[in-house]
Amino acid sequence: MDAFSLQLEFDRRLQHLYSQSEIRFLYQQISGHFTRESEIRNALLRLEQSEPYQYIIGESTFYGKDFVVTPSVLIPRPETEELVELALQRIALEKDFKEHLTIVDIGTGSGVIPIILKIHQPHAVVWGIDVSPEAIEIAKSNAQRHLQKIEFVCMDYLRSSFPVQNVDVLISNPPYISEEELQNIERNVLGFEPYNALFAPGPDPLVFYRKLAKDAQSHLRSGGLVLVEINQKLGNETLDLFNKVCTRTELIQDLSGNDRFVVGIK
Ligand SMILES: C[S@@+](CC[C@H](N)C(=O)[O-])C[C@H]1O[C@@H](n2cnc3c(N)ncnc32)[C@H](O)[C@@H]1O
Repeated sequence: MDAFSLQLEFDRRLQHLYSQSEIRFLYQQISGHFTRESEIRNALLRLEQSEPYQYIIGESTFYGKDFVVTPSVLIPRPETEELVELALQRIALEKDFKEHLTIVDIGTGSGVIPIILKIHQPHAVVWGIDVSPEAIEIAKSNAQRHLQKIEFVCMDYLRSSFPVQNVDVLISNPPYISEEELQNIERNVLGFEPYNALFAPGPDPLVFYRKLAKDAQSHLRSGGLVLVEINQKLGNETLDLFNKVCTRTELIQDLSGNDRFVVGIK
């Protein structure tokens, strides 16, 4: 079958799921990645099941760079690019920040946050922590791919003591969706992305932020920065937790106008 007919078939079979421009984009991604017709047809079948194209091609772009993703890791989101951008801006603004920063990312997933921060702060010692051994393996392969040395640790953050002292920057995009919000989550997210990357365990959707605030109290150096991505519905509650440990805090909206980040200086 020629490329034009294959593209028409994409249009016909995906039009109930996606807009025309989305189908064009998906076709470009799939045909740019696979060459054989059988592979493209198999990808089309997976798209029909609502599987995210990033898992089909095994890659996702974040902050202008390509990263390996598998169903063991969350597909990095544009809001998290904004979090990284905020971190880089705030690091540049802090006059007492030396080159040799210690940066810790909690819930590192595919490793996108520590890898981009390390690329922009090459003298920093950067840590990435995750409970999932599969995620840590993906994060390590991404660090290798981008030639960055990151200290990855596989541990359950909620049940462990904090592994690094005197931290300059504590950053995290932890699981923050509550079980009550389950019915609002789209099929392609719920059916394919790791549950424990999306949902906070148990009844308290702020469980990670409580621990992050406590660890900021004990392990972030005075003048250090904490930056977290948050549940848009819990902006003020999350801010309150960091108000208790920081001298200055801000609740910041994402580009869609939702409360999405809390930034604090201790
Ligand atoms: C929302 S995802 C963020 C992934 C990545 N940082 C990103 O922004 O694309 C949350 C991550 O936290 C990890 N996680 C969940 N529970 C954890 C725990 N108890 N300790 C450490 N990491 C945990 C998940 O495996 C997942 O990779």
